[in-house]
Amino acid sequence: MDFCHTHEENNEEEKRSFQRIIRAFMFYKTHSLSRLTKTIHYLRSLPEQHQRLLTNYSNSLETIRNCIDYNYNVILGMVQDSAYLFENQNTPSLDGWHSTDEVNKPIETDLEKVESTLKQLVRDWSIEGIEERKTCYKPIIDEILKEFPLKSVSASDIKILVPGAGLGRLVFEIAKLGYTSQGNEFSVFMLIASNFVLNKCRGVNTHVLFPWIHQCDNNLETKHQTQCITFPDINPAKEFPENASISMVAGDFLQVFTFSIKMCCFVTLFFIIYLHDYRFTQIKMNGIALPLVFLSIVLTI
Ligand SMILES: C[S@@+](CC[C@H](N)C(=O)[O-])C[C@H]1O[C@@H](n2cnc3c(N)ncnc32)[C@H](O)[C@@H]1O
Repeated sequence: MDFCHTHEENNEEEKRSFQRIIRAFMFYKTHSLSRLTKTIHYLRSLPEQHQRLLTNYSNSLETIRNCIDYNYNVILGMVQDSAYLFENQNTPSLDGWHSTDEVNKPIETDLEKVESTLKQLVRDWSIEGIEERKTCYKPIIDEILKEFPLKSVSASDIKILVPGAGLGRLVFEIAKLGYTSQGNEFSVFMLIASNFVLNKCRGVNTHVLFPWIHQCDNNLETKHQTQCITFPDINPAKEFPENASISMVAGDFLQVFTFSIKMCCFVTLFFIIYLHDYRFTQIKMNGIALPLVFLSIVLTI
């Protein structure tokens, strides 16, 4: 799958931001272990009889230490393969960006995004995410199939754009049906992770991840925090028809697609509320201006 950048004049700024994000990924282990160590020290500072009551919790902290290593391995795979992410941009070498010393600590929001990127792999690319995918992607795909039935169109002539594509599963599913599918995403966290799955993962369930270890809420039992998943649930390379067309455009949707877009259809999910520009509401379907807040839409143009 091709990933391309569109605004060359912003290259320097984009390189810096790319570098910042790689640093956040690379800092994951240092940051996670440092938080874990603080918790362990706090636990050890409690009176012994209180510590005895928390033996299970203490053991689970040790398990989390191992889980961090697994997650970091996945991150290393993602980062290693991000150097050639953009086909039309020379991404600088990653050497020297792997600083893990506290002085160069990335900002908290970037570190949180690394964790949320790992969690998002569950819905898009694991067997555990299948029910959620059915709920959110299937209605969109059914609508596309209704609008452009595979029996009556040449699927590859139907160009479908997915703005705010996240980890790319919807873009992938559309391409798998034979349509020409293009995603658009401005988060480099998302682009790095989707590039890894779509372009580098070759095989089924080849990677092990512990997505919930940083989350202390919404766990019914302690063990749920250290539950593992494997991904990808399918081998992306094997699932495509021979002439499949899939690509991802990096950048802000409202800046990248300023020209008239030659697409047959837009589909989006959990995206439109993120647009801080009302131009998108100017798009009309059958003469009716679209309201701003949509959960998912299929727009044929
Ligand atoms: C809530 S997430 C949904 C992602 C994906 N559609 C999904 O359902 O998993 C919204 C996505 O839109 C992206 N996004 C937000 N504003 C954007 C913009 N102006 N241009 C491109 N992508 C944008 C964010 O980076 C994020 O990945």
